[in-house]
Amino acid sequence: MAAPVVGRAVPRKEGRSKVTGQARYVDDLTMPGLLHGVTVRSPVPRGRIRGIRFEGGLPWDEFTIVTARDVPAPNRIALILNDQPCLADDVINHAEEPVVLLAHADRGLAERARQSVAIDVDPLPAVLSLDESLSGREVIWGTDNVFKSYLVNSGDVDAALAAADIVVEGEYETGAQEQLYIEPQGMISMADAEGITVWGSLQCPYYVHKALTTLFSLPAGRVRVVQTETGGGFGGKEEYPSHIAAHAALLAMKSGRPVKLVYDRAEDMVATTKRHPSRTRHRTGLSHDGRLVAMDIDFVLDGGAYCTLSPVVLSRGTLHAAGPYYCPNVRIRGRAMATSTPPHGAFRGFGAPQSLFALERHMDVVAARAGLAPDDLRRRNFIVQGQTSAIGQVMREPVEMDALLDRALALSGYHRKRETFDRANGHSPVKQGIGFASFLHGAGFTGSGEVHLASVVDVEATADGHVRVLAASTEIGQGTNTIFAQIIADTLGIGYDQVEVAQPDTANVPDSGPTVASRTAMVVGKLVETAARTLQQTLVDAGLLGAGGTGDAFIHACRTYIGTHGALRARSIYSPPPGVQWDDEAYRGDAYGAFAWAVYVAAVSVDTATWETRIDDFVALQEIGRVLHPVLAAGQIEGGVAQAIGYALLEEVIWRNGRMANGQMTNYIMPTSMDLPPIRVFFEERPYAHGPFGAKGIGELPMDGVAPAIANAIAHATGAAVSKIPITPESLMATIDRQLEAARV
Ligand code: MOS
Repeated sequence: MAAPVVGRAVPRKEGRSKVTGQARYVDDLTMPGLLHGVTVRSPVPRGRIRGIRFEGGLPWDEFTIVTARDVPAPNRIALILNDQPCLADDVINHAEEPVVLLAHADRGLAERARQSVAIDVDPLPAVLSLDESLSGREVIWGTDNVFKSYLVNSGDVDAALAAADIVVEGEYETGAQEQLYIEPQGMISMADAEGITVWGSLQCPYYVHKALTTLFSLPAGRVRVVQTETGGGFGGKEEYPSHIAAHAALLAMKSGRPVKLVYDRAEDMVATTKRHPSRTRHRTGLSHDGRLVAMDIDFVLDGGAYCTLSPVVLSRGTLHAAGPYYCPNVRIRGRAMATSTPPHGAFRGFGAPQSLFALERHMDVVAARAGLAPDDLRRRNFIVQGQTSAIGQVMREPVEMDALLDRALALSGYHRKRETFDRANGHSPVKQGIGFASFLHGAGFTGSGEVHLASVVDVEATADGHVRVLAASTEIGQGTNTIFAQIIADTLGIGYDQVEVAQPDTANVPDSGPTVASRTAMVVGKLVETAARTLQQTLVDAGLLGAGGTGDAFIHACRTYIGTHGALRARSIYSPPPGVQWDDEAYRGDAYGAFAWAVYVAAVSVDTATWETRIDDFVALQEIGRVLHPVLAAGQIEGGVAQAIGYALLEEVIWRNGRMANGQMTNYIMPTSMDLPPIRVFFEERPYAHGPFGAKGIGELPMDGVAPAIANAIAHATGAAVSKIPITPESLMATIDRQLEAARV
């Protein structure tokens, strides 16, 4: 029996190939006769296409040219509502919308050609802000610009607000954010009468598979999607790769040659999805003893020009909007609106960072109005085991927010620093502050999502004494391959090196669902464990292994079984944990199988000469069930905190006429190591009965609590009524100036 590896920092499965440069990313691949594809995009946010001109004296007859006319009807990329065309036909609905595809063997010439196609457009009025969209003056989608709305309603909010001792209102905004994975998006396709194959950088092989079988009306067996080594995703490679795959396939079909379509950074930044901008209004009623009696929340997301994933991003944001608190009367209205920008999409946190920024910043505002300390207000209202949340979810698992808060405040020296800073700030041009956020993140698909996905994992034994995992879950840098191998190794008592993880390839692996929603470790990992146990049971049933037999006995039995039967394979299919139920109609019930819980604390210095914020210390404490791999788990938190520091302070998408005007890494500023504080990561482990070895989801959690903790710290340091991120020096100075102005009149 091999030594256990769960909970230990074993080398990551693909680590060696990555550090030695052996790992092959899509742009490393080549094929005989390869053509290079490029995409010609809309120059305006909205209009009607009058014509397409091919200029510049280029040898146009050498090019493969694809327009909407080459796309099989109904020219849609399958997702939720299937409203987004593969290539714009007649009408343009956002800047940078794909209109024409070109391919040529010479990459440089293809790029020149891209710049030599002129698209003539008769402009139509564009809708360039949430307010314009909400006003309904120009209707660009449906009858009212609303992609989707939800209403959560528990108790009687209006009566409770009327009776409350204190009512506090607030309005909060968050901006767009670019995923900035290291490897830009890209695909290679080969296509002929037999079918289509694509290789590429992606999170969800079966999403791409569905988009291609739908668009080309092909049976499942004639489309093959293979994930190549992927340099980060963060949600950005959840839905967009379906477009690039379809584009590459169209060019490959028309040319009869393999086609590579790889975006450079500039194209990736301006054309692909970003995090949804948001606006949240809170009206909160409090009793005289500091208890929440009413929460009235209006949560609005900017979805961009097509519906894409906005309904599910909105749902997660809506269901997290009341946070880790108990309140008897809650109304949450969520709406996703259409605007004339490229569609916003999946990004780590998936709606929750937006609504939780608003809530956790607002809680500090409410505390101040009620004359309570921020931690005191929260302590009086944390939800506990056995209570029912606003969305009708009974908290069956232990919830220990109080203990988490105690530990996080102790680790950060919160109370001491709060006092010291308050005393020192009066005399100093550099103001120090400390703030925190307490929050939760639901792991797995929202609502009945996991039941609908019905994910499948196969595990097989090989004749040479290995066990191989067959799943469509992708390694995108976060550690999928490693944790799957750890789970198999400890379930079967075999060595970590005896486990292989198959490359996600729809021709070889079953659909274990998309690699999103903090679901891979908890949901798919559990299926991996279950499939391994089924494999083991097959050997027991065949009389080759004693009950629960592991290690060498297991491997020996596998060999014997394979010698007789030729193959040994077992399958596991998702079924929800007992008692977990969601009502789609009523939009109530168990929204998530499990939640991770956290308290994050930021200490900052704000220089009142430049209004720059420096983060001096950051404590991230979370309860995630069980830590499967301490280095990968800490890495997830450190990376997520770093990404969220960018979201909070630096990363500002400048929109000009519906187009990202700062689509370069020189003017869209993300944090570098020089901008980051020490990020001190701590875990509490309360094993979750339905996760593998007790694990819950972890990937998205760190995105949720960083911005409000920093905003609360800046408010503490400066007294600024911070309500909007990113908190750039310019915006902080403007906030302070407005407050000084208001105080003068
Ligand atoms: Mo995600 S943002 O659920 O890939």
